[in-house]
Amino acid sequence: MRRAVCPGSFDPVTIGHLDIFGRAAALFDEVVVAVGVNKSKSATSNRLFTSDERLEMIAAAVSPWSNVNVQGFTGLVTDFCRDIEAQAIVKGLRGSGDYDYELQMAQMNAHLTDVETVFLMTDPSMSFVSSSLVKEVASFGGDVSGLVPPAVFERLTARLAERRAGA
Ligand code: PNS
Repeated sequence: MRRAVCPGSFDPVTIGHLDIFGRAAALFDEVVVAVGVNKSKSATSNRLFTSDERLEMIAAAVSPWSNVNVQGFTGLVTDFCRDIEAQAIVKGLRGSGDYDYELQMAQMNAHLTDVETVFLMTDPSMSFVSSSLVKEVASFGGDVSGLVPPAVFERLTARLAERRAGA
């Protein structure tokens, strides 16, 4: 059984993430989307969605793939990989900015354990998509409806409206 982990914060999950999950699902027997659920204030203060909400949205979005599931994790991603017996971490690379950041993490993770990091190049049609830009653009009323799954778009719109209303 070849098992891969796709780790991230996914606040919220985008079409770019889903493209990577689907392509990883074609390469591995099982793909576990691992949502960082660190409860520390610094990790949660700038999140739009709680970890439970992010898990729920991803579970719905990956339901078409029978070999993809989602789990929360705390602590080191390498410990999570060991605990669930995953051999690889799969990440998408959009460009050189991602590469610089991801290379260092991949090398640190290789120093800590024997888990391999596998990079998939982002589909060029999605290389501008990031959770943070989606949130920023949506917060100023820009149309991000094609950049996240429809159910995520609904929740994003509702959450931003709540925030604007001071809820
Ligand atoms: O969505 P992000 O910010 O790219 O997600 C980053 C994440 C959660 C994948 C990364 O911060 C991570 O792996 N955190 C777990 C803690 C850990 O293992 N840190 C050392 C990484 S070398």
